[in-house]
Amino acid sequence: MIITNKSHGGKSLNGKIAVSMMCADIAKTVETITIFEENDIDFLHIDVMDGCFVPNLQLGVDYIMQLRNLSKIPLDIHLMITEPEKKLEWFDIKEGEMVSVHYESTENLNQALTFIKQKGAVPVLALNPATSIDVIKEHVSNVGVILLMTVNPGHAGQKMVPQMFEKIKQLRKYLDSAGYDNVKIEVDGNVSFENAKLMHDAGADIFVAGSSSVFHKDMTLIEAIAKLKNSISESKITHRERNDH
Ligand code: DX5
Ligand code: ZN
Repeated sequence: MIITNKSHGGKSLNGKIAVSMMCADIAKTVETITIFEENDIDFLHIDVMDGCFVPNLQLGVDYIMQLRNLSKIPLDIHLMITEPEKKLEWFDIKEGEMVSVHYESTENLNQALTFIKQKGAVPVLALNPATSIDVIKEHVSNVGVILLMTVNPGHAGQKMVPQMFEKIKQLRKYLDSAGYDNVKIEVDGNVSFENAKLMHDAGADIFVAGSSSVFHKDMTLIEAIAKLKNSISESKITHRERNDH
């Protein structure tokens, strides 16, 4: 699956920020989205949790439908649910969105990824920290992004699994060596100001920003967005502009 620039309004995906809406103050949703639109946030990351695949319940179908009416920022829908292939229809997936399904959540991964692609959205394969990157080999031609969970999914506010820096590096190395240099890497979980730079150094392109950064309790959204963008740009590793074929 190739992500063409046009699938994201002509913007490349390197160093992009997907804000984790489960961390947002629901009472300020409209004001929060306005700030995101004014500060060039790239995606609204929606953590959908079913209480089975992960030990938490979060953000459902109606929330997603309403959010689409409130914002023109594309959604990055992270499905932490069992058997997603049986439930994808519910979400009315739109062209230009990203939709991630977990390798660990279904026996029918191909069916799920193909459905997402047929909707004109970007199929994303998500891996939990303990899942080896070896599992992607038979699916990588069907995805535009690999999402590496850098915490165990289910809750905001956790600490990153330290081995994940190496995992990002190994994944980038594999993708580039196997001819998939256009497949992007998204990281999700404890993307703090300090971690974001190191994650970018390791090869991450898309950053899920939650309570560790954009929704940091001690600063405003605008201050935190600027600080996160600055952290990512401090990374001295310039990602080879991976050609979107
Ligand atoms: C964890 C969620 C993350 C999380 C990120 O299961 O998928 O999106 O909210 O936020 P922090 O920065 O708190 O890890
Ligand atoms: Zn997530």
